[in-house]
Amino acid sequence: MRSIISDYLTEALGAVQPDASGELAGYIPELAAADPDRLSTAFVMIDGQVYGAGDIDAEFTIQSISKPFVYALALADRGFDSVLAKVGVEPSGEAFNEISLESDTGRPRNPMINAGAITVHSLLGTEGLNADERVERVVDGLSAFAGRRLRTDEAVYASEMEHAHRNLAIAHMLRGHRILVEDARAVVDGYTRQCSVLVSTRDLAMMAATLANRGVNPLSGEQVVPEPVVRQVLSVMFSCGMYDAAGDWGTQVGIPAKSGVAGGLIGALPGQIGIAAFSPRLDSHGNSVRGVSLFERFSSDMGLHVMEVPATARATLRTSQVVGSGPHALRALQLQGAIGFAGAERIVRETVDTSYAENGVALDLTRVHSIDDVARRMLLEVVRRLTLDGHEVYLADPDSVMPAPDPGDDGRVTVVNSLDEAVAAQEGLSRGGSRPKGEGIDDAVAETAAVPPPR
Ligand code: DON
Repeated sequence: MRSIISDYLTEALGAVQPDASGELAGYIPELAAADPDRLSTAFVMIDGQVYGAGDIDAEFTIQSISKPFVYALALADRGFDSVLAKVGVEPSGEAFNEISLESDTGRPRNPMINAGAITVHSLLGTEGLNADERVERVVDGLSAFAGRRLRTDEAVYASEMEHAHRNLAIAHMLRGHRILVEDARAVVDGYTRQCSVLVSTRDLAMMAATLANRGVNPLSGEQVVPEPVVRQVLSVMFSCGMYDAAGDWGTQVGIPAKSGVAGGLIGALPGQIGIAAFSPRLDSHGNSVRGVSLFERFSSDMGLHVMEVPATARATLRTSQVVGSGPHALRALQLQGAIGFAGAERIVRETVDTSYAENGVALDLTRVHSIDDVARRMLLEVVRRLTLDGHEVYLADPDSVMPAPDPGDDGRVTVVNSLDEAVAAQEGLSRGGSRPKGEGIDDAVAETAAVPPPR
């Protein structure tokens, strides 16, 4: 059966295809000679599944879409402090190639405009890399994001370098403020090579999916950059990735994104998907006209706006019921899904509001697939307080979603593989045995209490 998602993407291309508005990037002669009618789009899910329409393997130059990825590499290589000392994170509200710097510090306002990206390029790798080594770091790093070996397009690089007067002016200004400490021309040369890396629509969607997947390439499994770096990069993409159109984009499309003047456009929706589109005609901001239309469609058709998230917290507590009977009866709270702060708050509230008659209380994590750090700490505190209230606490955690739980001072928890094991251990305890027992027994559900609706 053909996938409904591929069909949807084909339909979406058909809908935007007639729009021939916009211009090719005239200031780079090689780009001005491109075929303006090329059109493709791809989705890469965070498990690596690819959907596409149009020729998603045709190559073009990455241009400014390199900026968030190279920013990520510099943050990973040099640390946040060194990079932030030289490049801010405020939207500039200006065009991507504006010759402007912060008046007091001389810093470029953000890493998505050319001034910021040129500076970021100079911060790659360990201090003291030469120009060729920095380019090597770019190509290696972008290749790791894409999950395949990438290369530069020397013709596009040379064509841009011949007309790189604005970028050279920006670099000389940066050098004047000592934001750049290397030779200005050499840095612009390296930055221009960075922009000339060839990618396909599939590559771009895979690179975006690597950001959406907390920095892990979905196919190679490589952690390309650490998670805090990804958070920083996505935040800056959200506020600055579409230059002086960032506000409209953030409200209407709501996906952290980045465009390039060859016509590429990417979006990364954390935890869900990497998206790419390619169509070379650009609007006045330098963003692909048909690419922007495609993203507007995707966002509204599929609810992909980053502010539209399901209320997962309400569903965290699936059931609260008593299993076993008599003195061995156990209160079992069955949790589910991915638990973060709001989900853990539901468990905190449940356990604070309810006084359990049963001696044993089990948190059943069998249906939980992830617990973030804050939720883990909150649940361990729930365990500790239940212990202090005199309960015997069990954690049914067959998949170790909460490994090595330590509820701290005076807290005590017995980890078991199932509620059956918890009931067996509780039975053993009430008969005077030692903890834990872990033998299977018939579990009898004695009473099922409806979970109160959220207040
Ligand atoms: O530096 C430049 O002007 C180009 N190499 C890249 C600019 C770019 O892609 C702007 N984005 N839409």
